[in-house]
Amino acid sequence: MTRFIIFANRKGGCGKTTTAVNVAHALAKKEKKILLVDVDPQAHASLSVGNAPGIQYPTIFHLLRGEVSLKHAIVRTHLDGVSLIPSSRDLIAFETEFSSQKRSEMLLSEKLTGDIGDFDYLIFDPPPTAGLLTISALAAAQEVYIPMQMHFLNLEGLAEMVRLVYDVNAAWNPNLRMEGIIPTFFNKTTRIAKEIADDIIRHFGKDRLFPGIRMNISLSEAPGHGKSIFEYAPGSTGASDYMKLADKIDSVNSYP
Ligand SMILES: Nc1ncnc2c1ncn2[C@@H]1O[C@H](COP(=O)(O)OP(=O)(O)OP(=O)(O)O)[C@@H](O)[C@H]1O
Ligand SMILES: [Mg+2]
Repeated sequence: MTRFIIFANRKGGCGKTTTAVNVAHALAKKEKKILLVDVDPQAHASLSVGNAPGIQYPTIFHLLRGEVSLKHAIVRTHLDGVSLIPSSRDLIAFETEFSSQKRSEMLLSEKLTGDIGDFDYLIFDPPPTAGLLTISALAAAQEVYIPMQMHFLNLEGLAEMVRLVYDVNAAWNPNLRMEGIIPTFFNKTTRIAKEIADDIIRHFGKDRLFPGIRMNISLSEAPGHGKSIFEYAPGSTGASDYMKLADKIDSVNSYP
């Protein structure tokens, strides 16, 4: 069975794409087969794995419009074990083109069922919004992980995100659950990080607080080279933090 996971947060720049790409490669290094699904018109996940802009076919938009089959929407990447359904700017048109259609929230999920191949994980990288694209990805996923910078101002966004997960669960996808919160740009020596971690544990239980990702400059440099952290700086704290996170995600019992 393929586990469908998503790193989601309405807040921009909190590390969703960095987490999707590097967890994908970390799991692939553990001999898992990964399908990365870029559902963000910014196409940062596609770019991060070396899918150059200009290569506009096939994309997730063609899949959603029925112009390409699932099998043909999947491309290989240079990362061993990681395949990709790329995105492009065109995807912006999805929300206007499809939002008035009935059950448009389920279209992505329907496109991804059927012959998905023998992937162990399907990993979504959604945009920083609560629009149709993010809702569609949540409607297709099983496990939500919320990357979050440990600032007090972000707690409100976390609460909103959790509400969105409940709403999508109730309306579209009874299999969806919030599995974990991932501290990003993390510095565990600061008091604020500790206080917010305590807050998360109080509200969600200690099992929901996942291993944090420290601030690491190599993580921000790697995408510019179309590389994962494991290629760009295998000895960095970014690489060890993402391997630890992937180990933890891989140990989650997906069918409790
Ligand atoms: N732990 C980290 N240390 C240093 N830089 C990081 C770290 N995580 C992410 N970054 C950098 O921060 C920026 C935002 O990260 P990223 O693109 O992953 O966020 P995002 O949530 O996907 O953003 P968006 O909401 O625009 O999709 C990027 O330049 C990324 O390289
Ligand atoms: Mg992103």
